[in-house]
Amino acid sequence: MASFLWTLCLSALFLAPGVISAPPKRPIDVPFGRNYVPTWAFDHIKYFNGGSEIQLVLDKYTGTGFQSKGSYLFGHFSMHIKMVPGDSAGTVTAFYLSSQNSEHDEIDFEFLGNRTGQPYILQTNVYTGGKGDKEQRIYLWFDPTKEFHTYSVLWNMYQIVFLVDDVPIRVFKNSKDLGVRFPFNQPMKIYSSLWNADDWATRGGLEKTDWSKAPFIASYKGFHVDGCEVSVNAKFCETQGKRWWDQKAFQDLDAYQYRRLRWVRQKYTIYNYCNDRARFPTPSPECKRDRDI
Ligand SMILES: *[C@@H]1O[C@H](CO)[C@@H](O)[C@H](O)[C@H]1NC(C)=O
Repeated sequence: MASFLWTLCLSALFLAPGVISAPPKRPIDVPFGRNYVPTWAFDHIKYFNGGSEIQLVLDKYTGTGFQSKGSYLFGHFSMHIKMVPGDSAGTVTAFYLSSQNSEHDEIDFEFLGNRTGQPYILQTNVYTGGKGDKEQRIYLWFDPTKEFHTYSVLWNMYQIVFLVDDVPIRVFKNSKDLGVRFPFNQPMKIYSSLWNADDWATRGGLEKTDWSKAPFIASYKGFHVDGCEVSVNAKFCETQGKRWWDQKAFQDLDAYQYRRLRWVRQKYTIYNYCNDRARFPTPSPECKRDRDI
């Protein structure tokens, strides 16, 4: 930590303005209360270690959730989450960014629970201007209920990258040139929640939540936010183009990251809206880029 701070100071002193040192490899963990507040059912959130770890509780009365205090245009947002252990069928744990207006933008991680020993599904989605329908689904290469894993979003003018333990599992490129809207001018808050969705979540809704197994508990820590904070109505960001997530190295994945993404594609992907011809006879234009991966 000390040496990291030193690097920061030295870069600030000796680098020309606009030249940014590499981002912290390990984002700094902050207590929950610094950046986040509960959204609803406050009594269903439990706090540990002075707020450095929390648990969301779902029972037959209600689920719960929290949101960031600030709104952000671009940045890097991550969370360590341990999913509901045991029988989690019917439950959904979500981590997402969303703007607050009617034609909203949204970047989603949704973790669909399952019966004991059966695999979770991670569904991702992107909404632009209120329109979603861009789901992808994967199985994870580990059991997400055993340990904390890191789920993060990198969002800049060039791309939105979904990462699991630093492995890119999805890239949504800015395809404005192909006529596709890209989230760029609506600040988003970060949200997380745990709720009952047994009408669709597990095996398409066939597996129902077993309330005799309640309460269902998802655990969180490392509430990291590194974004450009703006008011809800702001359309631009003062630091745009200047912070680490805007720099060249983050405008595209590198060769190693593409290899890892292809590995996720080949071994773990179970659904991709780009390949669903029954639902979309004409795939959305950005799917052209998706196929090149
Ligand atoms: C749950 O397990 C079943 C059986 O292994 C599997 O088909 C399904 O994809 C799993 N996940 C969800 C969320 O339904």
